[in-house]
Amino acid sequence: MSRSAHPAGPRHADVLTEGHYAAPPADLNVLDEKVWARTVSRNDDGVVAVGGIEVTRLAEEFGTPAYFLDESDFRARCRAWADAFGRDADVFYAGKAFLSRAVVRWLREEGLNLDVCSGGELTTALGAGMPAERIAFHGNNKTVAEIERAIEAGVGRIVLDSFQEIVRVSHVAQRLGKRQRVQIRVTVGVEAHTHEFIATAHEDQKFGIALAGGEAAEAVRRTLALDGLELIGIHSHIGSQIFDMAGFEVSARRVVQLLAEVRDEHGIELPEIDLGGGLGIAYTSDDDPREPHEIAKALSDIVTRECEAAGLATPRISVEPGRAIVGPTAFTLYEVGTLKHLEGLRTYVSVDGGMSDNIRTALYDAEYSVALVSRRSDAEPMLVRVVGKHCESGDIVVKDAFLPSDLAPGDLIAVPATGAYCRSMASNYNHALRPPVVAVRDGEARVIVRRETEEDLLRLDVG
Ligand code: LLP
Repeated sequence: MSRSAHPAGPRHADVLTEGHYAAPPADLNVLDEKVWARTVSRNDDGVVAVGGIEVTRLAEEFGTPAYFLDESDFRARCRAWADAFGRDADVFYAGKAFLSRAVVRWLREEGLNLDVCSGGELTTALGAGMPAERIAFHGNNKTVAEIERAIEAGVGRIVLDSFQEIVRVSHVAQRLGKRQRVQIRVTVGVEAHTHEFIATAHEDQKFGIALAGGEAAEAVRRTLALDGLELIGIHSHIGSQIFDMAGFEVSARRVVQLLAEVRDEHGIELPEIDLGGGLGIAYTSDDDPREPHEIAKALSDIVTRECEAAGLATPRISVEPGRAIVGPTAFTLYEVGTLKHLEGLRTYVSVDGGMSDNIRTALYDAEYSVALVSRRSDAEPMLVRVVGKHCESGDIVVKDAFLPSDLAPGDLIAVPATGAYCRSMASNYNHALRPPVVAVRDGEARVIVRRETEEDLLRLDVG
């Protein structure tokens, strides 16, 4: 049985006949600004640069594979989200997409809040000076130790994910003599049109408490009845890499319905709703994401309309974009190692990274684009599969892409839109050393997460 709820194509694609693929772009040297970070461009000498620095220089200084993150683009996207949602809403960056201390500092400076979902993310956030009240703590199975640390630190909200957790958080808060602000995460029964593994609001899954069958209403009852908890609102997150606003519309409507039920039963109007993250980005030229101001307007119109209909005051809205902020701001730079032309089958281009720095293609059938960036080429396009150096055939970075036919070992190629869920999901498979993240801005490049070393690996191996 397929694991893909909405298969975008065969999982293990057979060799497809010529003519099946879209025609190659007219000019492979052109970089589609939809998928590349904002300061990326190809110089007159044909070399691609980011933040004013050519990739050939970056490769020399930092090695490959490596992630290069356009800091001004990241900051601009934070501001665009904050401005779009304005004073009556809160934007929480979802740290799981990519988190480091530098990122926390940028978020703080640009006025965003932060969503964390583990002790490690919480430590990073607090250690880099994010004020605790601007942190939301998530997760479907937070440990008691994590709950204690979050409450002690004074996080702005804990998102309750189960009946057990309502009791756990209440106990810990009481023990610490605190009253913790909480939201309840509900599953609204929406089938988000995305890969099954990243859809999170249909009922058959591990997150949240179902609206259906009165479960969520019961969770509200218990939360209100227990000491140590201050219920500030309802949370819903329907999935990831979503373009269609219809899912958010249904979700907002159902959450507002619950707010109305809570008012009718308990005589209180919960002041906040959180609609989660999940907004899609362009991985290839075929994707058409919406701008933050369009998203903000659509969400606030839906909530306002639904609240008016239910006779409720409009609650404060929050959202939790991760990918939409960091995804487009980075690319992964690889060096081409070997090429294999399998006559009548396919051309494989092997690079010096792979599924250890980008698991998304193997895990979700994700689509990416790729370009030759160390030089210009006017050679004919060839259809290739970009693969890594790991010991399995599923180690695919880009399933099908066009690169120039004079591509050769030593060329640098880059995969754009790898800012989200690539470094954060990177592994040491085959004892690969996880690549560095280098922030580039106004002609300066700075390592914000260094490359792992063999000593790092051996430090954990106690022999
Ligand atoms: N809020 C909550 C409660 C979440 O669970 C997530 C993502 C987000 C916000 C942020 O979603 P975003 O805006 O980044 O889509 N590893 C997968 C994505 C998993 C997302 C998990 N939760 C991927 O690479 O596509």
